[in-house]
This record gives sequence, structure tokens and C-alpha cells, in this order.
Amino acid sequence: MDNKARLKLEHITKEFPGTKALSNVGFDVMKGEVHALVGENGAGKSTLVSIIAGVQQPDEGQMFFDGVEIVHHSTLDAQKVGIGLVHQELSLCSHLNIGENIFLGRLPKNMLGVIDYEKLYFESKKLLEMFNSDLAPTEKISDLNVAQRQMVEILKALSYNCKLLILDEPTSSLTDRETKELFKIIRQLKDKGTSIIYISHRLAEIQEICDRISVLRDGHYIKTVNVKDVDVNQVVNMMVGRNIEFLYPPKSTQVAEELLRVENVTSKGIFENINFSLYQGEILGFSGLVGAGRTEVMKAICGIDKKNKGEIYFKKNKIEIKDYKQAIEHGIVYMTEDRKHEGLFLHMNIKHNITAAVLRKLSKSITLDAKKEEDLSSEYVKILDIKTPSVNQECGSLSGGNQQKVLFAKWLAAKPKILIVDEPTRGIDVNVKTEIYKLLRKLSNDGIGVIVITSELPEAIGICDRVVVMHEGVITGIVQGEQINEQCIMKYAANVC
Ligand SMILES: Nc1ncnc2c1ncn2[C@@H]1O[C@H](COP(=O)(O)OP(=O)(O)OP(=O)(O)O)[C@@H](O)[C@H]1O
Ligand SMILES: [Mg+2]
Repeated sequence: MDNKARLKLEHITKEFPGTKALSNVGFDVMKGEVHALVGENGAGKSTLVSIIAGVQQPDEGQMFFDGVEIVHHSTLDAQKVGIGLVHQELSLCSHLNIGENIFLGRLPKNMLGVIDYEKLYFESKKLLEMFNSDLAPTEKISDLNVAQRQMVEILKALSYNCKLLILDEPTSSLTDRETKELFKIIRQLKDKGTSIIYISHRLAEIQEICDRISVLRDGHYIKTVNVKDVDVNQVVNMMVGRNIEFLYPPKSTQVAEELLRVENVTSKGIFENINFSLYQGEILGFSGLVGAGRTEVMKAICGIDKKNKGEIYFKKNKIEIKDYKQAIEHGIVYMTEDRKHEGLFLHMNIKHNITAAVLRKLSKSITLDAKKEEDLSSEYVKILDIKTPSVNQECGSLSGGNQQKVLFAKWLAAKPKILIVDEPTRGIDVNVKTEIYKLLRKLSNDGIGVIVITSELPEAIGICDRVVVMHEGVITGIVQGEQINEQCIMKYAANVC
């Protein structure tokens, strides 16, 4: 590692109405260093990197890049000096294709000023190949899953030839294989002298790929340590400022009647003959590699997507679910993995988001009971410890993890009988994760049917009483008890049994 600072931050301070997001933050990022930035949800990580990348301006403080002071007025200024940022929240144009997104705003043109698609696709293909991806540059963003979209975002940042690449939770929706590819690229970039700021809640990853860690807590800089000098517990304790114990809640002791039964549900070409039951008192997991069809199955059960055939029974009675409204009427709700596009209205306030699914219950004849709305949303802000000065705050201004909590609140407020959660702890810090696991267990103990789709094996193993494993649109195994272990689930997920 070169011992010169590529980026030097001094006294960075940023205040939003009601929140001091950053107070006097300063540390260095060296050349060729992978520098982790960690902290609980709302600690100020995304705000800090958005200042470094010119998305926002600091109220106070200075930044130096290769020894020269930099003041960004826009992201363009940051790109010019060689700073690229991959946002936590994906921000691609879904109606454009991969190549167009990567080169948006600087599409190659030929002598006549017409877009040179040949060059565009050639350059994009090169980038995709770096990632070992077999996607075509002409593939439309709207046809990609979250993981693939994430990858395009990363390629876009890389395409700027940057000297400092900032990745804000890059792996929260990547598969293990894609994460490995990303790490390979990070190592290549590091060897070339590129510096990387790496934000993640996955501390094991940080231990694997990073050289040093800087810790933020409530907008304050705590300290920077060498990865090899600390263990995961020490990092967690620096983040939260006290000792915490990370525990999964006890598993179910009593399983009662059948709540939901799914028979032969099929959507041609996507998944086939899906059969399973969900019992009261259990947490049922859905595991598998990204792309196995788990999200699609749940969306079809809830009437969000169409199915070709199959029956659904609630407490042994056949029910009709033609659209999502009908599912909600039956008390079956689905909490999306894609909170930005499907889950939340980011331009609306927290209160409206939390009550969005229960508006009718809050209505007085035709007007909304504002007091009830305020009370209900405040109650959930408290239960889930959502960090915000008020329920009137715009949802888009919350930190990523806190947005996830609002999504949870929205569906809990609907008082579901069956709650299906898709990747519920994505982007959530260790502390809140424990709370969410406890909450899911409590809901299940209270008689609500809980289905959890998760790509994180420790999560499936830690919280589920039974795990349905899918591979390419079919159920390859259902495991329980001792069988809920990594080897067994992976065998079914890869369909090598
Ligand atoms: N545009 C904004 N307006 C108002 N408050 C904001 C805005 N952006 C961020 N904040 C607040 O600043 C604080 C820091 O948020 P930030 O997004 O930087 O946290 P984070 O460390 O990235 O958290 P997470 O791990 O959840 O992504 C939060 O309390 C957030 O609500
Ligand atoms: Mg963030």
C-alpha cells in the first residue's frame, strides 16, 4: 500500500432539518487501500460518501484529493477528479438497456453525431466480461433482477476509470458467486492503485476484503483500525458503543393448525407445481440461489403476478386471489425485496407510507382521521425504533436501513394473518436484525403465519423452523430440524441431491 493519502477528510459536518447527520468527521483513505466504513443504520455513512462524490455539499469541512483541495458542486466535478459512487439505492433507467445505462450522458457518437451503438455495446460487453457475466449489453434494465441491476451500477461506476471507487452496500443483493466476482474486481483495482471505500453491514466480508475500517456512530467519527487488529465483536461494539449480544430467538415449540396450503401453483416457464403448507406457530423459510423463483412464487400467490394454475387454501378453505387487493382482504401480505420501486413512496412522508395499506380503516366517512394516522404511525416508529425527528419526514430522506423499517411498519399496520417477507434484513445493521428476528418470532407465536424468503444462509438456519429450497422454478427439498444446515440447503439449492 502506498503511504500517501488519496483522500483526506477534515471536519466534515452536515445538518438536515432536525438531524445532525455528520459532526466533524475526518480520516484518510490511502492509495490502493480498501477502506471499510461502518456504523449502525442512520450513522451517516451514505451522507458522508454522497458528499465525497459531490451529490451533496458539506456545511463545513474540507476534502483533499491527492493532496489538492477539492470542492464539488456536482457529481460531475467528482467524476472529473476520478471519484465514482455506487449508490445504496439503485438508480438506473429501467426503460433503457444495460449499455445505454452504463454510458448514459456520454454515449459514444460517430462522426455524424449519431450514437455509435457498435462501440457502445463493445465497451459494455468488455465490462460485463470483467464480471464474468453472460448478460448481453442490449438487455433491458426492467428485465433484470435486483442483483443484476446492482452489477450494472457497479460497472457504470467502474467505466469512469476512477481513482476512488465508493461502494455503498454493494453486496446486499448479490449472490455469493457475484460477491466473489466483485471481490476479484476489487483486488484487481487495488493492485492498480485504485482506492475503495466499502460500506457494508456484513462484517465477515469486511474482514475478507478490507485493509482498514473507519467507524461512525450517530454522525461522529469514532476511530480507524486495521482489519487484522480487530475481531467482529470489537467492531460491533465500536459501532454501537456498548456490548451487544447477537442471538437468534428460540425456535418454535408448538406447531398448530394449517394456515395456508398451496397446491400445484404454476406459472409457465417460471416455476412449476409448487406445493407446500404453512402452519400456525412456525416460521417457514424459502431458500435458494437468486433466480430460483422464490419471489415469483410469492408474488403469484398474492395475486401480484399471474399464475396459470394452482389452488390456495386458507385454514383448509379454498380462496380466490385474482389480484393483490384480494390477497390483502384475506390477510395475506407480501413485503417486497425492492423497497424503492415497489415498496415505498419515497417522496411521501413516513406517516403516509406506514398507513398506506390501511387507509380505509383510518377513514371517517370520506375523510381521513389525521389523528389516528399520526398515532398509528408514531406507534410503529417507536416499536421498530425508526430513527427520524418526526413522522412527517419524507421517507426518501431516511437512511436505507430505516426505510426498510418503514416498509415493515407498513405491512405490520395492516395486521396480516400471513406475512410474507422477501429479504427482510437487507441493509439492516446487526442490532436491528436481532430486533427483526425477535419480531418475526413474536408474530409467529401470536398466530400469524410467517414466510421468510432469504438468500442469507445463516438467517435461514437461525430463524426458520422449516426451509423450502427451490432450484430453477421447482421445489427441490423441504428441510427441518437437524437438516436445516448449510450443506443440506446448498445441496438442494444447487439440485445435486
Ligand atoms: N436529505 C435528507 N434530509 C433529511 N435527513 C436526512 C437526509 N439524508 C439523510 N438524512 C438523515 O441523516 C442521518 C444519516 O443518514 P445516512 O443515510 O447517512 O445513514 P447510513 O449510515 O447510510 O445508514 P444505513 O445503514 O441505514 O444506510 C439519518 O438520520 C437520516 O435520516
Ligand atoms: Mg446508507
